[in-house]
Amino acid sequence: MATRKGPFKGRTIAVVDDLSLDEQRYLYRKARELKEGVLAGGDGAAFRLNDRDYSAYLIFMEDSTRTRESFRNAAKFLGARTNVFDAATSSFNKNESIVDTIRMLYGYAADSCFVIRSKLEGVCRSLEDSIGRYAELTGRPRPAFINAGDGRHEHPTQEFLDEFSFLEQLGWRDERIHIALTGDLYHGRTVHSKANGLRVFKEVRVDLVAPGPLGMPPHYAERMKSNGFEVKSYESLDEYLAAGKVAPIWYFTRLQLERMGEAVLEKAPSLRAAVTFRKDMLGLLPEGARFYHPLPRDRVHPTNPTFLDELPLNGWDGQSANGYWTRIALMGMVSGLLGGDFSGDQASPETFVDDFVREAPVVLREKPEVKVGIRPVDEGIVIDHISSGEPVAEIWDHIDAVRRMLKLNLRSSHGVFHNGRGSFKGIISLPEITSFGERDLKKLAAIAPGCTLNLVRGSRVVKKYRLDMPPRIYGFEEISCKNENCVSHPSHLEGVTPEFRRKGPPGGESGTTFVCRYCEREHRFREIWDV
Ligand code: CP
Repeated sequence: MATRKGPFKGRTIAVVDDLSLDEQRYLYRKARELKEGVLAGGDGAAFRLNDRDYSAYLIFMEDSTRTRESFRNAAKFLGARTNVFDAATSSFNKNESIVDTIRMLYGYAADSCFVIRSKLEGVCRSLEDSIGRYAELTGRPRPAFINAGDGRHEHPTQEFLDEFSFLEQLGWRDERIHIALTGDLYHGRTVHSKANGLRVFKEVRVDLVAPGPLGMPPHYAERMKSNGFEVKSYESLDEYLAAGKVAPIWYFTRLQLERMGEAVLEKAPSLRAAVTFRKDMLGLLPEGARFYHPLPRDRVHPTNPTFLDELPLNGWDGQSANGYWTRIALMGMVSGLLGGDFSGDQASPETFVDDFVREAPVVLREKPEVKVGIRPVDEGIVIDHISSGEPVAEIWDHIDAVRRMLKLNLRSSHGVFHNGRGSFKGIISLPEITSFGERDLKKLAAIAPGCTLNLVRGSRVVKKYRLDMPPRIYGFEEISCKNENCVSHPSHLEGVTPEFRRKGPPGGESGTTFVCRYCEREHRFREIWDV
């Protein structure tokens, strides 16, 4: 039975940020040590796990050459039991869920890591949760889950090998990088991972070169900016080269035709032309420029055409080879073989303080406050300030949503009234309710943040609570992720419970934006509710 421990043992790498910057630097240091040592004739003994009880499962539900084969070779180098799972002929075809499949495979080895590529975004995060609980229940080691590319979401191990390649080109100096990202920035998960992966450099300039329909999704561009990157956008390579100040590192991506809708597919030839390099552009490149590409490239319409293959510009061959070295180092880390000499900050799970309920001062009044159209209650609860300041039609919608979601089908009254500040608010008056459970309180806070809950006794408000937006919304039947590719989307029947996290502190845009825990799609807070 395996007894290895260490800071990386059993860690899931679903997104780039599952390793802290210090941990990413450790990975690059180890991969460099391995590569240089082996290329100089060494046997890489420090990277040999030689444990046939440690299983590496490669589960590819989408096609792959580089990622699957570099992981397969990396697992063999380590000396792990290497299993290439044949997803196409497996019991997935008999409607077996992913979690049932993994639970079973997990039982075949003392210790294991699973490398998974899937169309389902967030699948590794969901397995980390569910199989992690199963591991605790059975007292067995937690398996590691490594995301080998999930839909349009992320491809963290590609990101690690890309950053390793850039650092190698820059002589292992991490002061600054100036990079152009071009091609299909909309569908390409490898460029999405760069929004965080490039943080390994202290100063980052990113030029985004893609026509409208292939442009970087705004939330990734925003993430780059909030990470302190200088970001500029161009519609085509011609526009970019004409603007001057061209980056010495270019990162091409292919058009992901398999992920495009009909409308974009029709425009593919002209979109591709905008991001395809031509011979006449060679003279406009800065000295020492180098091109990278995660590959594969389209053999009929490559955006980095074959005339470049033999030029010093070709950085992609070395880049794909670096997938081998970085993946050996990463598997060495999550297996517990490496990490004893790590020092620095570790990635830590987010913590949440459910501080969404604040007691507010009660203003004593001689007489019950009379609301136009609502009879004051003698005993009960009044929900006040619903959607205060919003357009009247929306306030009515939210009153309706609160009533339906909290199942307030009892004697009560409600309405829209002046809020005393020149605009309107909603009120629901509930004479038959004398207490509110914590779940309902959280639901109310998540549907109508900013509202107050007043407990009325003997015609007086005796307690008043102000409800802010909760930091997490989960555990309600009425919520779902609206990304159809998300593992938690109801259409996939994978049994994954939706969970959303508030993007920023209450107040302001980010305080009402919620991020899916699995696919990281951002939602306006009302979007997550199904009713
Ligand atoms: N770069 C990359 O993910 O290649 P494969 O699809 O061949 O694995």
